[in-house]
Amino acid sequence: MHITAAAVESAREWDATVFREHQQTDRYRDPPPDEDPWTDLAWNFSPPDRDELDLDPAVNVVETYLDPGDTLIDVGAGGGRLAIPLARRCARVVAVEPSPAMRARMDAAITELGVDNVEVIPETWQNVDIPASDHVICSHVVYATTPILPFLEKLNDHAQKRVTVMLRERPPQANFHELFERLFGEKRVALPAMPEFRNLLEALEIKYETHRLEDRPHGVFPSAEAALRRSTQRLFLNPGSRSAERLAKILPDCLVPNGDGVKFNWAEPQRGWLVSWSTE
Ligand SMILES: C[S@@+](CC[C@H](N)C(=O)[O-])C[C@H]1O[C@@H](n2cnc3c(N)ncnc32)[C@H](O)[C@@H]1O
Repeated sequence: MHITAAAVESAREWDATVFREHQQTDRYRDPPPDEDPWTDLAWNFSPPDRDELDLDPAVNVVETYLDPGDTLIDVGAGGGRLAIPLARRCARVVAVEPSPAMRARMDAAITELGVDNVEVIPETWQNVDIPASDHVICSHVVYATTPILPFLEKLNDHAQKRVTVMLRERPPQANFHELFERLFGEKRVALPAMPEFRNLLEALEIKYETHRLEDRPHGVFPSAEAALRRSTQRLFLNPGSRSAERLAKILPDCLVPNGDGVKFNWAEPQRGWLVSWSTE
């Protein structure tokens, strides 16, 4: 990877945006609970069952790059949503995942599905020391990652054939920004997403290809109670706090019926992208 001056500048902007977003979060959030932040969310990142009816379409694209004897590292593998179906399609997967709640979900799925070619490593990507693989994938991890340049360089250096990154057009919590603004009266700083990632790759002069993935519904909830629970969590509030009580008052005006449930009246589906480049 050739680190150009433009890439250093682009990465500096990325890091500064993440820093400003985190500072803003800390200004308004309630005191963080002690538990792993993924505890209540890990089930969202479960792999599909044996029939693969809810297989993420990204797996079908990654599969086109794989030879049966290939090895793959999944960086920030979560509950094994991609690592486990991809393990069926190549020789071996190393799943790097720092969150205990996510690893518990993945370990349970590995046992349930009888998978024997996934190794789970309890580390961050920055700290892990493992050999390179043929492929490195990293799905929905980069948004809040800093410093982004060494992280990306490590992805690139660990891929003997190809790097594939999945991310959304807008930051993953984009549909909660309007709610944040109504609650706290301040424009929400948006984390970097696809446009900023594209800038970074172009500044690095990497020849990448993109695949548009399916739009995913977002800002939709099975009930008003579920909307309140999820919004409380996504705005980093503790149930019963003053901010959480104010949120409960303003939320009903932000929701409209949606089938059997509700959605934010500004809800937009999340557009997904797969970005991939050869390292050979
Ligand atoms: C939104 S989840 C995505 C999980 C999975 N890749 C997927 O697409 O289903 C983000 C995951 O990245 C992990 N993560 C965050 N920072 C990381 C880092 N620096 N190194 C490795 N994993 C990280 C989190 O623990 C979490 O499991």
